[in-house]
Amino acid sequence: MSKQLEAEIARRRTFGIISHPDAGKTTLTEKLLLFGGAINLAGAVKSRKVERHATSDWMAIEQERGISVTTSVMKFTYRDFEINLLDTPGHQDFSEDTYRVLTAVDSAIMVIDSAKGVEAQTEKLMEVCRMRNTPIITFINKLDREGLAPLDLMGEIEEKLQIECTPLTWPIGMGKTFKGVYNILRRQLHLFTAGHDSRLSPGITINGLDDPELDRLLGHQADELRTDIELLDGAANPLEYDHYLSASQTPVFFGSAINNFGVRELLDTFVEMAPPPGPRQSATRVVRPQEEAFSGFVFKIQANMNPAHRDRIAFLRICSGTFSRGMKVRHHRLGKDITLANATIFMAQERSHVEEAYPGDIIGLHNHGTIKIGDTFTPKEELKFTGIPNFAPEHFRRVLLKNPLKMKQLQKGLVQLAEEGAIQVFRPIIGPDYIMGAVGVLQFEVTMARLKNEYGVEAVYEPVDYQAARWVSCGDRKKMAEFERKNQMALAYDAEGFLTYLSQSEWMLKFFMEKWPDVEFHKTRENI
Ligand code: G4P
Repeated sequence: MSKQLEAEIARRRTFGIISHPDAGKTTLTEKLLLFGGAINLAGAVKSRKVERHATSDWMAIEQERGISVTTSVMKFTYRDFEINLLDTPGHQDFSEDTYRVLTAVDSAIMVIDSAKGVEAQTEKLMEVCRMRNTPIITFINKLDREGLAPLDLMGEIEEKLQIECTPLTWPIGMGKTFKGVYNILRRQLHLFTAGHDSRLSPGITINGLDDPELDRLLGHQADELRTDIELLDGAANPLEYDHYLSASQTPVFFGSAINNFGVRELLDTFVEMAPPPGPRQSATRVVRPQEEAFSGFVFKIQANMNPAHRDRIAFLRICSGTFSRGMKVRHHRLGKDITLANATIFMAQERSHVEEAYPGDIIGLHNHGTIKIGDTFTPKEELKFTGIPNFAPEHFRRVLLKNPLKMKQLQKGLVQLAEEGAIQVFRPIIGPDYIMGAVGVLQFEVTMARLKNEYGVEAVYEPVDYQAARWVSCGDRKKMAEFERKNQMALAYDAEGFLTYLSQSEWMLKFFMEKWPDVEFHKTRENI
Protein backbone atom coordinates (compact mmCIF):
# COMPACT_ATOMS: atom_id res chain seq x y z
CA MET A 1 0.00 0.00 0.00
CA SER A 2 1.48 3.34 -0.98
CA LYS A 3 2.28 5.76 1.83
CA GLN A 4 1.31 8.68 -0.35
CA LEU A 5 -2.11 7.23 -1.09
CA GLU A 6 -2.66 6.60 2.59
CA ALA A 7 -1.71 10.17 3.48
CA GLU A 8 -3.94 11.62 0.77
CA ILE A 9 -6.90 9.60 2.03
CA ALA A 10 -6.30 10.63 5.63
CA ARG A 11 -6.47 14.32 4.76
CA ARG A 12 -9.63 14.20 2.69
CA ARG A 13 -13.07 15.16 3.94
CA THR A 14 -16.02 14.84 1.61
CA PHE A 15 -19.30 16.16 2.94
CA GLY A 16 -22.62 17.81 2.23
CA ILE A 17 -24.67 20.41 4.07
CA ILE A 18 -28.26 19.50 4.84
CA SER A 19 -30.87 22.03 5.89
CA HIS A 20 -34.33 23.38 5.30
CA PRO A 21 -34.33 26.24 2.76
CA ASP A 22 -33.43 29.59 4.33
CA ALA A 23 -31.68 28.15 7.36
CA GLY A 24 -28.40 29.54 6.04
CA LYS A 25 -26.76 26.81 3.97
CA THR A 26 -25.56 29.15 1.24
CA THR A 27 -24.24 31.62 3.78
CA LEU A 28 -22.39 28.92 5.69
CA THR A 29 -20.97 27.47 2.47
CA GLU A 30 -19.64 30.88 1.61
CA LYS A 31 -17.96 31.33 4.99
CA LEU A 32 -16.39 27.89 4.81
CA LEU A 33 -15.00 28.73 1.40
CA LEU A 34 -13.65 32.00 2.76
CA PHE A 35 -11.72 30.13 5.43
CA GLY A 36 -10.46 27.77 2.79
CA GLY A 37 -9.23 30.69 0.75
CA ALA A 38 -11.27 29.35 -2.15
CA ILE A 39 -13.05 32.66 -2.52
CA ASN A 40 -11.94 36.09 -1.43
CA LEU A 41 -15.15 37.96 -1.16
CA ALA A 42 -18.20 37.42 0.94
CA GLY A 43 -21.16 37.33 -1.38
CA ALA A 44 -19.39 35.34 -4.06
CA VAL A 45 -21.44 32.20 -3.64
CA LYS A 46 -24.70 34.09 -3.61
CA SER A 47 -23.77 36.07 -6.66
CA ARG A 48 -22.71 32.85 -8.31
CA LYS A 49 -26.21 31.59 -7.62
CA VAL A 50 -27.59 34.66 -9.35
CA GLU A 51 -25.17 34.36 -12.25
CA ARG A 52 -26.25 30.81 -12.80
CA HIS A 53 -29.86 31.86 -12.82
CA ALA A 54 -29.24 34.51 -15.37
CA THR A 55 -27.52 32.20 -17.79
CA SER A 56 -30.27 29.82 -18.60
CA ASP A 57 -33.96 30.05 -19.09
CA TRP A 58 -34.98 26.92 -17.34
CA MET A 59 -33.22 28.05 -14.27
CA ALA A 60 -35.66 30.92 -14.19
CA ILE A 61 -37.88 28.38 -12.53
CA GLU A 62 -35.62 28.14 -9.58
CA GLN A 63 -35.23 31.88 -9.53
CA GLU A 64 -38.96 32.40 -9.54
CA ARG A 65 -39.47 30.02 -6.74
CA GLY A 66 -36.37 30.93 -4.84
CA ILE A 67 -35.02 27.42 -4.72
CA SER A 68 -31.75 25.96 -5.73
CA VAL A 69 -32.27 23.19 -8.26
CA THR A 70 -28.76 22.36 -9.23
CA THR A 71 -26.04 20.70 -7.30
CA SER A 72 -22.44 21.66 -7.43
CA VAL A 73 -19.17 20.44 -6.06
CA MET A 74 -16.66 22.68 -4.39
CA LYS A 75 -13.17 21.77 -3.41
CA PHE A 76 -11.06 23.76 -1.00
CA THR A 77 -8.13 23.35 1.32
CA TYR A 78 -8.18 24.11 5.01
CA ARG A 79 -5.11 23.58 7.19
CA ASP A 80 -3.76 20.29 5.84
CA PHE A 81 -7.10 19.03 4.72
CA GLU A 82 -8.52 18.68 1.25
CA ILE A 83 -12.21 19.30 1.51
CA ASN A 84 -14.88 18.41 -1.01
CA LEU A 85 -18.18 20.09 -0.34
CA LEU A 86 -21.08 18.68 -2.31
CA ASP A 87 -24.01 21.04 -2.50
CA THR A 88 -27.48 19.56 -2.37
CA PRO A 89 -30.72 21.04 -3.62
CA GLY A 90 -32.69 22.34 -0.67
CA HIS A 91 -36.15 21.88 -2.11
CA GLN A 92 -37.84 18.63 -1.23
CA ASP A 93 -39.08 18.06 -4.76
CA PHE A 94 -35.52 17.31 -5.69
CA SER A 95 -34.94 14.95 -2.82
CA GLU A 96 -34.03 12.09 -5.12
CA ASP A 97 -31.14 14.10 -6.42
CA THR A 98 -30.16 15.00 -2.89
CA TYR A 99 -30.26 11.35 -1.89
CA ARG A 100 -27.84 10.44 -4.65
CA VAL A 101 -25.49 13.26 -3.73
CA LEU A 102 -25.52 12.06 -0.16
CA THR A 103 -24.41 8.59 -1.31
CA ALA A 104 -21.16 10.26 -2.32
CA VAL A 105 -20.35 11.95 1.00
CA ASP A 106 -18.63 10.58 4.07
CA SER A 107 -20.34 12.93 6.51
CA ALA A 108 -22.71 15.89 6.71
CA ILE A 109 -23.20 19.21 8.46
CA MET A 110 -26.78 20.00 9.41
CA VAL A 111 -27.80 23.66 9.63
CA ILE A 112 -30.76 24.62 11.79
CA ASP A 113 -32.35 28.04 12.09
CA SER A 114 -32.45 28.79 15.80
CA ALA A 115 -35.82 30.52 15.50
CA LYS A 116 -37.46 27.76 13.52
CA GLY A 117 -35.97 24.62 14.98
CA VAL A 118 -36.29 21.35 13.11
CA GLU A 119 -38.20 21.94 9.87
CA ALA A 120 -39.81 19.55 7.41
CA GLN A 121 -36.96 19.27 4.95
CA THR A 122 -34.43 18.76 7.71
CA GLU A 123 -36.44 15.77 8.84
CA LYS A 124 -36.54 14.32 5.35
CA LEU A 125 -32.84 14.78 4.77
CA MET A 126 -32.07 13.31 8.13
CA GLU A 127 -34.00 10.20 7.13
CA VAL A 128 -31.79 9.96 4.08
CA CYS A 129 -28.65 10.30 6.17
CA ARG A 130 -29.91 7.65 8.52
CA MET A 131 -30.24 5.14 5.68
CA ARG A 132 -26.49 5.19 5.33
CA ASN A 133 -25.62 6.11 8.93
CA THR A 134 -23.90 9.26 7.74
CA PRO A 135 -22.19 11.04 10.67
CA ILE A 136 -23.61 14.52 11.26
CA ILE A 137 -22.33 17.66 12.94
CA THR A 138 -25.03 20.21 13.78
CA PHE A 139 -24.73 23.99 13.41
CA ILE A 140 -27.49 26.02 15.01
CA ASN A 141 -27.55 29.27 13.09
CA LYS A 142 -28.81 32.85 13.46
CA LEU A 143 -28.05 33.27 17.16
CA ASP A 144 -27.85 37.01 16.45
CA ARG A 145 -31.65 36.86 16.31
CA GLU A 146 -34.18 35.91 18.93
CA GLY A 147 -34.75 32.19 18.72
CA LEU A 148 -35.80 29.18 20.71
CA ALA A 149 -34.00 28.37 23.94
CA PRO A 150 -30.91 26.23 23.23
CA LEU A 151 -32.09 23.41 25.46
CA ASP A 152 -35.46 23.35 23.72
CA LEU A 153 -33.71 23.26 20.35
CA MET A 154 -31.64 20.29 21.38
CA GLY A 155 -34.72 18.59 22.80
CA GLU A 156 -36.49 19.09 19.50
CA ILE A 157 -33.58 17.67 17.52
CA GLU A 158 -33.43 14.64 19.78
CA GLU A 159 -37.14 14.04 19.58
CA LYS A 160 -37.84 14.74 15.93
CA LEU A 161 -34.60 13.49 14.44
CA GLN A 162 -33.91 10.68 16.85
CA ILE A 163 -30.31 11.58 17.38
CA GLU A 164 -28.57 12.34 20.66
CA CYS A 165 -27.19 15.89 20.90
CA THR A 166 -23.93 16.75 22.56
CA PRO A 167 -23.17 20.49 22.60
CA LEU A 168 -19.52 21.41 22.04
CA THR A 169 -20.16 25.11 22.27
CA TRP A 170 -22.83 26.94 24.23
CA PRO A 171 -24.41 30.29 23.38
CA ILE A 172 -24.44 33.19 25.79
CA GLY A 173 -27.73 34.99 25.27
CA MET A 174 -29.31 35.46 21.89
CA GLY A 175 -30.57 38.23 19.63
CA LYS A 176 -29.86 41.59 21.21
CA THR A 177 -28.22 39.99 24.21
CA PHE A 178 -26.06 37.58 22.21
CA LYS A 179 -22.59 37.81 23.71
CA GLY A 180 -20.84 34.89 22.09
CA VAL A 181 -20.21 31.23 22.63
CA TYR A 182 -18.38 29.25 25.23
CA ASN A 183 -16.34 26.33 23.94
CA ILE A 184 -17.11 23.61 26.43
CA LEU A 185 -14.18 21.34 25.60
CA ARG A 186 -11.52 24.01 25.31
CA ARG A 187 -12.99 26.21 28.04
CA GLN A 188 -12.63 29.20 25.83
CA LEU A 189 -14.85 32.16 25.42
CA HIS A 190 -15.51 33.70 22.04
CA LEU A 191 -17.06 37.11 22.19
CA PHE A 192 -19.41 38.07 19.45
CA THR A 193 -18.88 41.05 17.25
CA ALA A 194 -21.19 41.55 14.34
CA GLY A 195 -19.49 41.86 11.01
CA HIS A 196 -19.91 39.98 7.80
CA ASP A 197 -16.29 39.54 6.88
CA SER A 198 -14.74 39.16 10.26
CA ARG A 199 -12.56 36.14 10.70
CA LEU A 200 -12.54 34.81 14.19
CA SER A 201 -10.26 36.27 16.79
CA PRO A 202 -8.58 33.64 18.95
CA GLY A 203 -10.79 32.76 21.88
CA ILE A 204 -10.24 34.15 25.34
CA THR A 205 -9.06 31.38 27.60
CA ILE A 206 -10.54 31.53 31.04
CA ASN A 207 -9.49 29.52 34.04
CA GLY A 208 -12.66 27.64 34.58
CA LEU A 209 -16.09 29.08 35.00
CA ASP A 210 -15.20 30.63 38.38
CA ASP A 211 -12.72 32.98 36.75
CA PRO A 212 -13.76 36.57 37.69
CA GLU A 213 -12.70 37.57 34.19
CA LEU A 214 -15.94 35.96 33.08
CA ASP A 215 -17.96 38.42 35.16
CA ARG A 216 -16.00 41.32 33.80
CA LEU A 217 -16.61 40.24 30.22
CA LEU A 218 -20.18 39.04 30.46
CA GLY A 219 -21.72 40.95 33.37
CA HIS A 220 -24.83 39.28 34.73
CA GLN A 221 -24.81 36.83 31.83
CA ALA A 222 -21.77 35.15 33.41
CA ASP A 223 -23.97 33.59 36.04
CA GLU A 224 -26.47 32.47 33.43
CA LEU A 225 -23.66 30.73 31.59
CA ARG A 226 -22.49 29.06 34.82
CA THR A 227 -25.98 27.77 35.49
CA ASP A 228 -26.38 26.52 31.93
CA ILE A 229 -23.08 24.67 31.94
CA GLU A 230 -23.81 23.15 35.33
CA LEU A 231 -27.12 21.95 33.99
CA LEU A 232 -25.47 20.54 30.90
CA ASP A 233 -22.87 18.74 32.99
CA GLY A 234 -25.66 16.79 34.56
CA ALA A 235 -27.99 16.45 31.62
CA ALA A 236 -26.10 16.43 28.31
CA ASN A 237 -24.50 13.36 26.87
CA PRO A 238 -20.72 13.35 26.82
CA LEU A 239 -19.15 13.24 23.39
CA GLU A 240 -18.57 9.67 22.25
CA TYR A 241 -16.65 9.53 19.01
CA ASP A 242 -17.99 6.11 18.04
CA HIS A 243 -21.52 7.29 18.52
CA TYR A 244 -20.87 10.22 16.24
CA LEU A 245 -19.39 7.90 13.60
CA SER A 246 -22.36 5.58 13.78
CA ALA A 247 -24.72 8.58 13.54
CA SER A 248 -26.43 8.01 16.86
CA GLN A 249 -24.95 11.21 18.31
CA THR A 250 -24.41 14.65 16.82
CA PRO A 251 -21.98 17.27 18.17
CA VAL A 252 -23.74 20.65 18.26
CA PHE A 253 -22.33 24.12 17.57
CA PHE A 254 -24.02 27.49 17.88
CA GLY A 255 -23.26 30.56 15.82
CA SER A 256 -24.25 33.05 13.21
CA ALA A 257 -23.12 32.24 9.72
CA ILE A 258 -23.79 35.66 8.32
CA ASN A 259 -21.56 37.21 10.98
CA ASN A 260 -19.00 34.49 10.43
CA PHE A 261 -19.37 33.64 14.05
CA GLY A 262 -18.84 30.11 15.31
CA VAL A 263 -17.92 28.99 11.82
CA ARG A 264 -14.22 28.49 12.40
CA GLU A 265 -14.86 26.36 15.46
CA LEU A 266 -17.24 24.32 13.41
CA LEU A 267 -14.71 23.91 10.64
CA ASP A 268 -11.84 23.07 12.99
CA THR A 269 -13.85 20.40 14.71
CA PHE A 270 -15.20 19.16 11.43
CA VAL A 271 -11.77 18.50 9.89
CA GLU A 272 -10.56 16.83 13.06
CA MET A 273 -13.61 14.68 13.69
CA ALA A 274 -15.28 13.94 10.40
CA PRO A 275 -14.27 10.62 8.91
CA PRO A 276 -11.96 10.39 5.90
CA PRO A 277 -13.12 8.24 2.97
CA GLY A 278 -13.92 4.76 4.20
CA PRO A 279 -14.64 1.35 2.69
CA ARG A 280 -17.53 1.03 0.24
CA GLN A 281 -19.79 -1.87 -0.47
CA SER A 282 -19.89 -3.24 -4.00
CA ALA A 283 -22.10 -6.04 -5.28
CA THR A 284 -19.26 -8.53 -4.86
CA ARG A 285 -17.06 -7.24 -2.05
CA VAL A 286 -16.08 -4.33 0.18
CA VAL A 287 -13.64 -1.96 -1.52
CA ARG A 288 -11.10 -0.21 0.71
CA PRO A 289 -9.91 3.25 -0.31
CA GLN A 290 -6.29 2.23 0.21
CA GLU A 291 -6.43 -0.35 -2.57
CA GLU A 292 -4.03 0.55 -5.36
CA ALA A 293 -6.53 -0.02 -8.14
CA PHE A 294 -8.66 2.98 -8.99
CA SER A 295 -12.42 2.72 -8.61
CA GLY A 296 -15.29 5.17 -8.56
CA PHE A 297 -18.99 5.53 -9.27
CA VAL A 298 -21.17 8.15 -10.91
CA PHE A 299 -23.70 9.69 -8.57
CA LYS A 300 -24.92 12.58 -10.60
CA ILE A 301 -25.22 13.80 -14.15
CA GLN A 302 -25.74 17.44 -14.73
CA ALA A 303 -26.52 19.36 -17.86
CA ASN A 304 -26.11 23.08 -18.35
CA MET A 305 -23.10 23.51 -16.14
CA ASN A 306 -22.02 25.87 -18.81
CA PRO A 307 -24.93 26.74 -21.07
CA ALA A 308 -22.54 28.15 -23.65
CA HIS A 309 -21.24 24.63 -24.25
CA ARG A 310 -24.37 22.60 -23.73
CA ASP A 311 -22.33 20.06 -21.90
CA ARG A 312 -23.36 17.21 -19.69
CA ILE A 313 -21.05 16.30 -16.88
CA ALA A 314 -21.01 13.02 -15.00
CA PHE A 315 -19.83 13.43 -11.41
CA LEU A 316 -17.73 10.53 -10.24
CA ARG A 317 -16.77 9.89 -6.65
CA ILE A 318 -13.41 8.15 -6.32
CA CYS A 319 -13.61 5.20 -3.92
CA SER A 320 -10.13 3.68 -4.13
CA GLY A 321 -6.68 4.11 -5.64
CA THR A 322 -5.26 7.07 -7.50
CA PHE A 323 -6.77 8.72 -10.50
CA SER A 324 -4.30 10.05 -13.01
CA ARG A 325 -5.08 11.96 -16.12
CA GLY A 326 -5.28 9.90 -19.26
CA MET A 327 -5.71 6.63 -17.42
CA LYS A 328 -7.65 3.84 -19.08
CA VAL A 329 -10.65 2.43 -17.29
CA ARG A 330 -13.27 -0.12 -18.06
CA HIS A 331 -16.85 1.02 -18.52
CA HIS A 332 -18.34 -2.21 -17.25
CA ARG A 333 -21.93 -1.65 -18.26
CA LEU A 334 -20.88 -1.14 -21.88
CA GLY A 335 -17.96 -3.57 -21.73
CA LYS A 336 -15.69 -0.92 -23.25
CA ASP A 337 -12.35 0.60 -22.29
CA ILE A 338 -12.30 4.37 -22.18
CA THR A 339 -9.61 6.92 -21.53
CA LEU A 340 -10.25 9.49 -18.86
CA ALA A 341 -8.41 12.26 -20.61
CA ASN A 342 -10.24 15.41 -19.76
CA ALA A 343 -11.61 14.92 -16.30
CA THR A 344 -12.42 18.10 -14.49
CA ILE A 345 -12.04 18.90 -10.86
CA PHE A 346 -14.31 21.47 -9.32
CA MET A 347 -12.86 24.34 -7.44
CA ALA A 348 -15.13 26.80 -5.74
CA GLN A 349 -15.36 29.09 -8.69
CA GLU A 350 -13.74 27.49 -11.65
CA ARG A 351 -13.09 24.15 -13.15
CA SER A 352 -9.59 22.99 -13.83
CA HIS A 353 -8.17 19.87 -15.37
CA VAL A 354 -7.11 17.21 -12.93
CA GLU A 355 -3.76 15.50 -13.04
CA GLU A 356 -4.24 13.34 -9.98
CA ALA A 357 -7.09 12.72 -7.62
CA TYR A 358 -7.69 10.45 -4.65
CA PRO A 359 -10.48 8.68 -2.78
CA GLY A 360 -13.09 11.16 -1.62
CA ASP A 361 -12.41 13.49 -4.56
CA ILE A 362 -15.07 14.16 -7.13
CA ILE A 363 -14.11 14.38 -10.75
CA GLY A 364 -16.28 15.50 -13.63
CA LEU A 365 -16.31 13.47 -16.83
CA HIS A 366 -17.64 14.80 -20.09
CA ASN A 367 -20.60 12.73 -20.99
CA HIS A 368 -21.98 12.18 -24.44
CA GLY A 369 -24.80 9.99 -23.33
CA THR A 370 -22.78 6.89 -22.52
CA ILE A 371 -22.53 7.42 -18.77
CA LYS A 372 -25.43 6.80 -16.43
CA ILE A 373 -25.97 7.31 -12.75
CA GLY A 374 -24.63 4.33 -10.86
CA ASP A 375 -21.96 3.41 -13.44
CA THR A 376 -18.77 2.12 -11.86
CA PHE A 377 -15.33 2.56 -13.41
CA THR A 378 -12.25 0.48 -12.61
CA PRO A 379 -9.19 -0.45 -14.66
CA LYS A 380 -9.94 -4.19 -14.74
CA GLU A 381 -11.99 -5.85 -12.06
CA GLU A 382 -15.69 -5.84 -12.66
CA LEU A 383 -17.11 -3.94 -9.72
CA LYS A 384 -20.49 -2.44 -9.09
CA PHE A 385 -20.96 -0.09 -6.17
CA THR A 386 -24.32 -0.49 -4.56
CA GLY A 387 -26.67 1.87 -2.79
CA ILE A 388 -27.48 4.32 -5.59
CA PRO A 389 -31.12 3.55 -6.24
CA ASN A 390 -33.97 5.04 -8.18
CA PHE A 391 -37.00 5.64 -6.01
CA ALA A 392 -40.50 4.67 -7.07
CA PRO A 393 -42.18 7.88 -8.25
CA GLU A 394 -45.15 9.21 -6.35
CA HIS A 395 -46.49 11.63 -8.96
CA PHE A 396 -47.37 10.88 -12.57
CA ARG A 397 -48.18 12.90 -15.67
CA ARG A 398 -48.85 12.06 -19.31
CA VAL A 399 -46.76 14.00 -21.84
CA LEU A 400 -48.62 15.60 -24.71
CA LEU A 401 -46.61 16.72 -27.68
CA LYS A 402 -47.76 19.93 -29.37
CA ASN A 403 -46.07 19.14 -32.66
CA PRO A 404 -46.27 15.41 -33.50
CA LEU A 405 -43.31 15.71 -35.88
CA LYS A 406 -41.07 16.23 -32.88
CA MET A 407 -41.63 12.72 -31.55
CA LYS A 408 -38.00 11.70 -32.03
CA GLN A 409 -36.68 14.73 -30.18
CA LEU A 410 -39.16 14.14 -27.39
CA GLN A 411 -37.99 10.56 -27.05
CA LYS A 412 -34.34 11.59 -27.00
CA GLY A 413 -34.98 14.35 -24.51
CA LEU A 414 -36.95 12.19 -22.14
CA VAL A 415 -34.42 9.37 -22.24
CA GLN A 416 -31.53 11.74 -21.59
CA LEU A 417 -33.33 13.54 -18.80
CA ALA A 418 -34.19 10.18 -17.28
CA GLU A 419 -30.52 9.17 -17.46
CA GLU A 420 -29.66 12.33 -15.61
CA GLY A 421 -32.18 11.38 -12.97
CA ALA A 422 -34.12 14.60 -13.60
CA ILE A 423 -37.31 12.65 -14.22
CA GLN A 424 -38.44 9.05 -14.66
CA VAL A 425 -40.04 7.97 -17.89
CA PHE A 426 -42.36 5.04 -18.54
CA ARG A 427 -43.65 3.59 -21.78
CA PRO A 428 -46.84 1.60 -21.17
CA ILE A 429 -46.87 -1.72 -23.05
CA ILE A 430 -50.19 -0.74 -24.57
CA GLY A 431 -50.67 2.72 -26.05
CA PRO A 432 -48.44 5.42 -27.46
CA ASP A 433 -48.07 7.50 -24.32
CA TYR A 434 -45.06 8.65 -22.40
CA ILE A 435 -45.72 8.76 -18.69
CA MET A 436 -43.45 10.85 -16.51
CA GLY A 437 -42.92 9.87 -12.92
CA ALA A 438 -41.44 12.07 -10.23
CA VAL A 439 -40.80 12.11 -6.54
CA GLY A 440 -41.57 15.87 -6.43
CA VAL A 441 -43.93 17.71 -8.79
CA LEU A 442 -41.52 20.53 -9.57
CA GLN A 443 -39.55 17.98 -11.57
CA PHE A 444 -42.34 18.07 -14.19
CA GLU A 445 -42.01 21.80 -14.69
CA VAL A 446 -38.25 21.61 -14.95
CA THR A 447 -38.53 18.77 -17.47
CA MET A 448 -40.94 20.69 -19.69
CA ALA A 449 -38.76 23.79 -19.59
CA ARG A 450 -35.68 21.78 -20.43
CA LEU A 451 -37.38 19.87 -23.25
CA LYS A 452 -38.20 23.22 -24.79
CA ASN A 453 -34.83 24.86 -24.28
CA GLU A 454 -32.49 21.99 -24.92
CA TYR A 455 -34.40 19.77 -27.35
CA GLY A 456 -36.71 22.25 -29.07
CA VAL A 457 -39.74 20.24 -28.01
CA GLU A 458 -42.94 22.01 -27.09
CA ALA A 459 -44.84 19.68 -24.85
CA VAL A 460 -47.33 19.94 -22.04
CA TYR A 461 -48.44 17.45 -19.46
CA GLU A 462 -51.77 16.37 -18.12
CA PRO A 463 -52.85 14.45 -15.04
CA VAL A 464 -52.97 10.71 -15.37
CA ASP A 465 -54.68 8.21 -13.18
CA TYR A 466 -51.70 6.58 -11.48
CA GLN A 467 -50.72 6.81 -7.86
CA ALA A 468 -47.95 4.32 -7.37
CA ALA A 469 -45.28 2.47 -9.32
CA ARG A 470 -43.27 -0.63 -8.53
CA TRP A 471 -40.54 -2.34 -10.47
CA VAL A 472 -41.43 -5.99 -10.82
CA SER A 473 -39.36 -9.14 -11.01
CA CYS A 474 -39.85 -12.84 -10.43
CA GLY A 475 -37.46 -15.75 -10.05
CA ASP A 476 -39.90 -18.01 -11.89
CA ARG A 477 -39.81 -17.10 -15.58
CA LYS A 478 -43.04 -18.83 -16.38
CA LYS A 479 -44.88 -16.99 -13.64
CA MET A 480 -43.36 -13.73 -14.81
CA ALA A 481 -44.53 -14.36 -18.37
CA GLU A 482 -48.02 -15.11 -17.10
CA PHE A 483 -48.00 -11.96 -14.98
CA GLU A 484 -46.95 -9.94 -17.99
CA ARG A 485 -49.52 -11.48 -20.28
CA LYS A 486 -52.39 -10.97 -17.91
CA ASN A 487 -51.58 -7.44 -16.82
CA GLN A 488 -50.44 -5.68 -19.97
CA MET A 489 -52.76 -2.78 -19.33
CA ALA A 490 -50.99 -1.92 -16.11
CA LEU A 491 -47.41 -2.53 -17.17
CA ALA A 492 -44.80 -0.22 -18.62
CA TYR A 493 -41.08 -0.15 -19.32
CA ASP A 494 -38.94 2.49 -17.72
CA ALA A 495 -36.25 4.40 -19.63
CA GLU A 496 -33.80 1.56 -19.14
CA GLY A 497 -36.20 -1.18 -20.12
CA PHE A 498 -37.15 -2.42 -16.65
CA LEU A 499 -40.67 -3.66 -16.28
CA THR A 500 -42.81 -1.53 -14.00
CA TYR A 501 -46.27 -1.93 -12.62
CA LEU A 502 -48.25 1.33 -12.60
CA SER A 503 -51.08 1.34 -10.13
CA GLN A 504 -54.14 3.55 -9.87
CA SER A 505 -54.22 3.37 -6.11
CA GLU A 506 -52.38 2.06 -3.11
CA TRP A 507 -55.30 -0.26 -2.58
CA MET A 508 -54.92 -1.75 -6.08
CA LEU A 509 -51.22 -2.16 -5.49
CA LYS A 510 -51.85 -4.10 -2.30
CA PHE A 511 -54.46 -6.20 -4.05
CA PHE A 512 -52.02 -7.03 -6.86
CA MET A 513 -49.26 -7.90 -4.47
CA GLU A 514 -51.52 -10.32 -2.67
CA LYS A 515 -52.78 -11.77 -5.92
CA TRP A 516 -49.27 -12.39 -7.27
CA PRO A 517 -47.27 -13.56 -4.26
CA ASP A 518 -44.41 -14.91 -6.40
CA VAL A 519 -43.82 -11.58 -8.08
CA GLU A 520 -41.62 -9.10 -6.28
CA PHE A 521 -42.70 -5.45 -6.27
CA HIS A 522 -39.71 -3.17 -5.71
CA LYS A 523 -39.96 0.34 -4.29
CA THR A 524 -36.41 1.15 -5.36
CA ARG A 525 -34.33 0.04 -8.29
CA GLU A 526 -30.57 -0.04 -8.39
CA ASN A 527 -29.08 0.80 -11.75
CA ILE A 528 -27.76 -2.41 -13.14
P1 G4P B 1 -30.22 28.70 2.37
O1 G4P B 1 -29.06 28.57 1.44
O2 G4P B 1 -30.25 27.68 3.45
O3 G4P B 1 -31.55 28.82 1.68
O4 G4P B 1 -30.07 30.07 3.19
P2 G4P B 1 -29.22 31.38 2.90
O5 G4P B 1 -27.80 31.16 3.24
O6 G4P B 1 -29.55 31.89 1.55
O7 G4P B 1 -29.82 32.31 4.04
C1 G4P B 1 -31.20 32.60 4.12
C2 G4P B 1 -31.38 33.98 4.75
O8 G4P B 1 -30.91 33.94 6.10
C3 G4P B 1 -30.58 35.06 4.07
O9 G4P B 1 -31.32 36.26 4.18
C4 G4P B 1 -29.34 35.16 4.91
O10 G4P B 1 -28.72 36.41 4.81
C5 G4P B 1 -29.92 34.92 6.29
N1 G4P B 1 -28.92 34.44 7.25
C6 G4P B 1 -27.99 33.46 7.09
N2 G4P B 1 -27.26 33.32 8.22
C7 G4P B 1 -27.74 34.22 9.10
C8 G4P B 1 -27.38 34.55 10.44
O11 G4P B 1 -26.47 34.01 11.05
N3 G4P B 1 -28.12 35.52 11.03
C9 G4P B 1 -29.13 36.19 10.40
N4 G4P B 1 -29.77 37.12 11.06
N5 G4P B 1 -29.48 35.90 9.14
C10 G4P B 1 -28.79 34.92 8.49
P3 G4P B 1 -32.10 36.87 2.97
O12 G4P B 1 -32.68 38.15 3.44
O13 G4P B 1 -33.03 35.85 2.42
O14 G4P B 1 -31.02 37.07 1.87
P4 G4P B 1 -29.91 38.20 1.76
O15 G4P B 1 -30.66 39.37 1.26
O16 G4P B 1 -29.32 38.40 3.10
O17 G4P B 1 -28.96 37.65 0.76
